[in-house]
Amino acid sequence: MKYKRILLKLSGEALMGNKQFGIDNERLAQYAVQIKEISEMGVEVAVVIGGGNIFRGIQAEEGGMDRVHGDYMGMLATVINSMALQSALEKAGVETRLQSAIKMEQICEPFIRRKAVRHLEKNRVVIFGAGTGNPYFTTDTAATLRAIEIEADVVLKGTRVDGIYTADPEKDKTATKYDTITFSEVYDKGLEVMDMTAFTLCNENKLPIIIFDMNKIGNLKKIMEGHQVGTLVEF
Ligand code: GTP
Repeated sequence: MKYKRILLKLSGEALMGNKQFGIDNERLAQYAVQIKEISEMGVEVAVVIGGGNIFRGIQAEEGGMDRVHGDYMGMLATVINSMALQSALEKAGVETRLQSAIKMEQICEPFIRRKAVRHLEKNRVVIFGAGTGNPYFTTDTAATLRAIEIEADVVLKGTRVDGIYTADPEKDKTATKYDTITFSEVYDKGLEVMDMTAFTLCNENKLPIIIFDMNKIGNLKKIMEGHQVGTLVEF
């Protein structure tokens, strides 16, 4: 197995599937099955999900809402998605624990790093909700921070595109995909991988990133088996 412990970042929007809003149960079940597959291979899996399918802090600000207020609402949205994924995973027969950066003791554990690591060692999938618990940080940053804290081998960012391209593939047909790229190349070329805070955190802590298409069934398993999928950002 290529990786022993991973942090999987899923986007909230992806959970919508073909819907306009909310959670598509089919998509959710699909994700659960793929996570189960790698968990059964013995990979220790932690997950961070965004909340964009329910609420986006930045849009709230555009609408006149206080940014900090909006960001907290976004954090709560990630807890809703985390609970949905937890339920789907348990339905698929995977043991899980949900930890939140904002205390909600009636519904989940608080984030305690050492406890999270213990759960992972017991092959439980650990979902981290409520981002970092702070406004002005994205869920990509939360994913990166948690990955560093639990000493994950890699951050896997599941998106709609299957990697990093020389240009935006939706706009430029001549764009080509990188199989691997270094952190300094990403900086030099001004490519967008994650927001700069998250990306820099990975760089400074020597944490590789894989950008891949999570909606292509089997991709996650292939990565664990060491196949080339998506784009690997390395040192
Ligand atoms: P071990 O110590 O490894 O056995 O872990 P464990 O998670 O099974 O032990 P624990 O007794 O801490 O947790 C049992 C269940 O209670 C799990 O489903 C936890 O997620 C849940 N749990 C633990 N702490 C909290 C909490 O503060 N709030 C909520 N809502 N659930 C909690």
